[in-house]
Amino acid sequence: MVWSEDMENCEKKSSCQKCDFFKHVLDALVEPLVVVDSNGIIIFINKAYEEFLQVSREEALGRAVQDVIENTRLHLFCSKKEAEIDSLQTIHDREAVVQRIPIIVDEKTIGAIGKVNYQNVHEISSLAKKLKSMESKLEAYKKSSASQMAAVYTFEDIIGCSPALESVKQFAVKAAASEMTILILGETGVGKELFAQAIHNASPRHRGPFVSINCAAIPQDLLESELFGYEEGAFTGARKKGKPGKFELADGGTIFLDEVGDMPLRMQAKMLRVLQNRHIERIGSTASQDMDVRVIASTNQNLEDKVLNSEYRADLYYRLNAITLKIPPLRERREDISLLVDKTLEQLGSDKKFSRESMRIIVNGYWPGNVRELINVVERLVFLTDASFIEPGHLKTVEPSLFKEQEDKKEQEVAEPQSSKMLSRSVNDTEKEVLFDTLKQTGWNKTQAAKLLGIHRTTLHTKMRKYGIQQKPL
Ligand SMILES: Nc1ncnc2c1ncn2[C@@H]1O[C@H](COP(=O)(O)OP(=O)(O)OP(=O)(O)O)[C@@H](O)[C@H]1O
Ligand SMILES: [Mg+2]
Repeated sequence: MVWSEDMENCEKKSSCQKCDFFKHVLDALVEPLVVVDSNGIIIFINKAYEEFLQVSREEALGRAVQDVIENTRLHLFCSKKEAEIDSLQTIHDREAVVQRIPIIVDEKTIGAIGKVNYQNVHEISSLAKKLKSMESKLEAYKKSSASQMAAVYTFEDIIGCSPALESVKQFAVKAAASEMTILILGETGVGKELFAQAIHNASPRHRGPFVSINCAAIPQDLLESELFGYEEGAFTGARKKGKPGKFELADGGTIFLDEVGDMPLRMQAKMLRVLQNRHIERIGSTASQDMDVRVIASTNQNLEDKVLNSEYRADLYYRLNAITLKIPPLRERREDISLLVDKTLEQLGSDKKFSRESMRIIVNGYWPGNVRELINVVERLVFLTDASFIEPGHLKTVEPSLFKEQEDKKEQEVAEPQSSKMLSRSVNDTEKEVLFDTLKQTGWNKTQAAKLLGIHRTTLHTKMRKYGIQQKPL
């Protein structure tokens, strides 16, 4: 470390020790820092600036700052009173972000400090990106915690352009306007809760509460009190003043009975009574209250099977599915995948891109966890990949399961014969139509028709027999 002559010659030993200490402090900074006196002469330069400029202290100290640092204006600040914060300065071909701060003692400027905050503006844009991504994550967390008591999503938040999703959306918009109970079916992660919230927000009850209860997550013994509440002293450990249940809390709004397929049989009986009579009773109470609540239920289980196996009450099932909304799994609407990927990248504030091949792998992937899984995979890829283009190699490292796809292959094997049958049927239909039209056009002159079609006359005869076109129709 080199200090200016004046400081090296400090008379008091104790203050020299202090000087040393501060020298160490300034040297420990990662930001380059330089100090000039009132004439713009360098009296201190820290280690980081030495490295940044590739100049040794011995060379820098005692020289005019403009002779050592490219494009500097620090010497101008030796007579100023105002600092300059976050100004751009090109040093060694890099756009650095610098601060210039006058040192004022007794209202007199005795020197100035120059500090490089960012050695390259790109650092700022990467910081800005990080910030944006953190903000969007925070927003998502806020949304998910707010969703416990309120519906935050609308139909606009449901991403997808596939005809399959579009038609469910259209149906859901219509269903929202009614007061009828809706049963939302679909595999895990397809967006059942998203739809439930969107329906509430598009319904006449949108100003009322949206109360969600997960019937699978709550222990069976507590489910009844959670749903219907209890009166004071209803059971040992009950709260002094009793507690309202979810149905009461949802008054004037919507209750979302999530995972309704996991409701125990005993509760199913009570639930049926409530839905039929439209009034509720707290546990331990004899009084009943009218219920002004719209019910939306959801499950990823096959309720029909459960009914057949006597695991679910048929009467409750029919009451719940006044309107059924079936959300197709992602593999049945692959057109939505790239849109969902792009939207996720946008929400993460990332400008990473998927190469054509990696997008193809993602679009054709097997997604048992549907949209939730897809979003998680994209998030992982963004945070674990440094490259700006995500290639298949990155997918392989971060998400090797995408390459297993055995299930997908199985599905294709089952689907292929079906789809190839459909294709050959439509090819045949078209061929028959073309033959017929050409024969008509040529007044049923087979030689002319064969010529027009570019086939031999015998081939034309074979094809006519194949399609049952034997002669000119009457
Ligand atoms: N079409 C979509 N557009 C945008 N985000 C979606 C879409 N579908 C699902 N999501 C998102 O995927 C995640 C899972 O959705 P949701 O919780 O609604 O699924 P679910 O069907 O209720 O799943 P589970 O059965 O596991 O509870 C959520 O983060 C949701 O916002
Ligand atoms: Mg859910």
